Amino acid sequence: MHMDEDKAMEDERPQVMEYKFKPIGVIRSKYRSKGGVPIQGIFGPDSKGRAEIFEEYEAGLKDIEGFSHIILIYVFHRSEGYELVCRPYMEDKLHGVFAIRAPRRPNPIGFSVVRLEKREGRVLYLSEVDMLDGTPILDIKPFAPRFDHRPGARVGWMEGSFRDKDHRKVSDDRF
Ligand SMILES: C[S@@+](CC[C@H](N)C(=O)[O-])C[C@H]1O[C@@H](n2cnc3c(N)ncnc32)[C@H](O)[C@@H]1O
Repeated sequence: MHMDEDKAMEDERPQVMEYKFKPIGVIRSKYRSKGGVPIQGIFGPDSKGRAEIFEEYEAGLKDIEGFSHIILIYVFHRSEGYELVCRPYMEDKLHGVFAIRAPRRPNPIGFSVVRLEKREGRVLYLSEVDMLDGTPILDIKPFAPRFDHRPGARVGWMEGSFRDKDHRKVSDDRF
């Protein structure tokens, strides 16, 4: 019985165990080192940057300018290794890596909701940027409150952090 259950679990794993992605562009920002960067873009309303999309993907930007915010999915290219339980920037208690937004993760993928100020050809001018200069962009999606907003969502351990008006807003060099 156990054997069958184990086998079933095994079969549910994806058949392809590695995936390759190619960057579609690169982030340009003033941030060259990991410390002193907004922990989330929302803490840096004047934190400017650009997403420079490679020529071959420019046609995919059609109609993006209608959105005030976009979701960028990218590689934390300057992070190395990971711990499954670690201390996030916002407090010193331990949490599981999947319950925090730290850059050191099993798959070092980041996503940021950024404000799209304007588009000039294949360059997107952004604010609310929390990415280092040179960050490789994997994908862009339009931010749509209808899809992405959940009124009343619970925020677990972050609840306390947000109650403290002096909570940390800028990264240190712990990652
Ligand atoms: C806490 S993470 C949050 C990123 C994203 N908004 C998220 O939720 O996935 C933001 C921090 O990651 C670090 N960071 C940004 N870009 C990075 C990169 N390309 N490689 C490594 N660390 C990076 C900076 O220190 C920044 O303050």
